[in-house]
Amino acid sequence: MPDHIRIQEVLQMEPPRPSLTIKGWVRTFRNDQFIAVNDGSCHENLQVVIDPAQFDATTLKRITTGAAIMARGELVASIGRGQKVELKASQIEILGDCDPETYPLQPKKHSLEFLREHAHLRMRTQTFGAVFRIRHSLAYAIHHFFHQRGFIYLHTPIITASDAEGAGELFQVTTLDLQHVPLNERGEVDYSQDFFGRKANLTVSGQLEGELGALAFSRIYTFGPTFRAENSNTTRHLAEFWMIEPEMAFYDLNDNMDLAEEFIKYIIRFVLEQHPADLQWLAARLKEEESKKPQQERFEMELLEKLHFVVENPFERITYTDAFEILKNSPHNKKKKFQFPVEQWGMDLQSEHERYLVEKYFKKPVIITDYPKEIKAFYMRQNDDGRTVRAMDILFPGIGEIVGGSQREERYDRLLQRMQELHISPQELYWYLDSRRFGGCPHSGFGLGFERMVQFVTGMNNIRDVIPFPRTPKNIAF
Ligand code: 4AD
Ligand code: MG
Repeated sequence: MPDHIRIQEVLQMEPPRPSLTIKGWVRTFRNDQFIAVNDGSCHENLQVVIDPAQFDATTLKRITTGAAIMARGELVASIGRGQKVELKASQIEILGDCDPETYPLQPKKHSLEFLREHAHLRMRTQTFGAVFRIRHSLAYAIHHFFHQRGFIYLHTPIITASDAEGAGELFQVTTLDLQHVPLNERGEVDYSQDFFGRKANLTVSGQLEGELGALAFSRIYTFGPTFRAENSNTTRHLAEFWMIEPEMAFYDLNDNMDLAEEFIKYIIRFVLEQHPADLQWLAARLKEEESKKPQQERFEMELLEKLHFVVENPFERITYTDAFEILKNSPHNKKKKFQFPVEQWGMDLQSEHERYLVEKYFKKPVIITDYPKEIKAFYMRQNDDGRTVRAMDILFPGIGEIVGGSQREERYDRLLQRMQELHISPQELYWYLDSRRFGGCPHSGFGLGFERMVQFVTGMNNIRDVIPFPRTPKNIAF
C-alpha cells in the first residue's frame, strides 16, 4: 500500500494528526512558506506550511509551480482563512522538478484556447480538473442508474460493416496499404483483397446490435465511443464522441421518453450531490464569461440554478408538427431573423430553431416527437399518417439536441419496404431483419451524446473542452 493519503481524504480529517504524508503537484509557493498542493482528488488544495529555516536553499528553489512533491508532517487546524486544516511539514521531497522557465502553465488564469493548445497539461488546471472529475462521476452515475434497474451493459463492436444511421458519415477501416491499393477492372478499390474481405467502418452507433441484445435481455445499454466523419466544425460536434444507448423490449415511445427524462434527471442530481466545490468553481467561471457578452446573448440562469431547474421541472413534450407551427408563426420567423426561414413542413430543424423553442418559447428542455420520416433513420416506427415516424429528440438549453431516439419498426414488412425505398441492402442487414422474424416485438431506445451532457452540466461552451483528448482535424497528435 502507498504511504501517502489523498488530499480529498486529508481535508476531511479531524486535526491534529501527528504523522501524515501527502503527494501531489505544487500550485503556488508563497513567501518561502506556504505551498498549495493539489493531487487531482478534489478541487481544493492542501496548504502545506514550512519553516524556510529548516530547508536548504536548493530545495526551496525546486518548489515551483507544477513540481511533484512529497510532504510529511503534522496536520493541524489552520488559523488562516479559506481552509480548515493545514499540513505543518517537517520533510519535503521533490519527486519531479518542473522548470518554471519552460512550464506552459503559470499560476494565473489561462484562456481555454491557450489550454487547448496544451491539452497534454490542461488536466492539471482547476477548470479542467473540475470538468473531468464531473465527467467521471456522470459516467459512474450512468452505470449505476442502469444497473439498479436491471439493464445489461452490452459491448457493441467498434469495427462494423453497417451504417446504423444511414447517413454515410463513416470512417473506413482498412488494412490495405493505401499507397498500393489493388483496383478491380473498373478502377475501384478491391475490398476482396482486404483483411476483412469486405468493407468495414468505425461504428456510428451501437443501436442495431443493441436491439439484438434487447430482444434477448429485454433491457440493455451501451456506453462507448462512436465515430462520425462529418465535416462540421462546431462547438457541438466531435469526430469521436461517447454515446449511451439504452434499448428496451416492450417499451413504446412514451415509456422511452419517461425513461430518458428520469435518467437525465438522475445523473444531473448525482453530480449536484457529489461535486459542490467543482460546480461552484465552474459556475463562477461561467458567470465571468457571460458577463463579457452583450446582455441579449447572456443566459438568464446561472449554472447551478439551471441544473436545479432541469432536475425539478417536467420536460415539455410536443410533436414536430406543433413545433413547426410555433416556429412558423413566431415573430422571430416573421421578422426573418432565422438564417433558415421556417416555411415548408418536412424541413429539418436547425439548431437555431431548436434553441428558439427551448430558450425563448418554452424556456425548458423540450422533447419533440413524430418527425417527418424523410429526415429520420430507416429503423423508426412508421405512424399511420404515412408521413411521420415515432421519433423523439430531446433539446436542451444552450446545447440543442442532446438525445435522439425512437420506437423501432418491429413489423418485418414495413421495415423491409423502408429499407428498399432507401436503398439499404437487406442482404447486408439480414441479421437485423431476422430480429423481426424471430420473436420480434415492440421496442424502443435512445442515444444520449455523453459530451453534450458533460457540456450542459459543466457549462463549458466548446465540446473540445469536455473530452480529455478531442478528435478533430486539429487535435490528433495525442
Ligand atoms: O441522433 P443520433 O445520431 O442518434 C443515434 O445515433 C441513434 N442510433 C441513437 C439511438 O436511438 N440509440 O445521435 C444521438 C446523440 C445526439 O442526440 C447527440 O447528443 C450526440 O449523439 N451526437 C454527437 N455528439 C458529439 N459529436 C457528434 N458529432 C455527434 N453526433 C451525435
Ligand atoms: Mg439525431
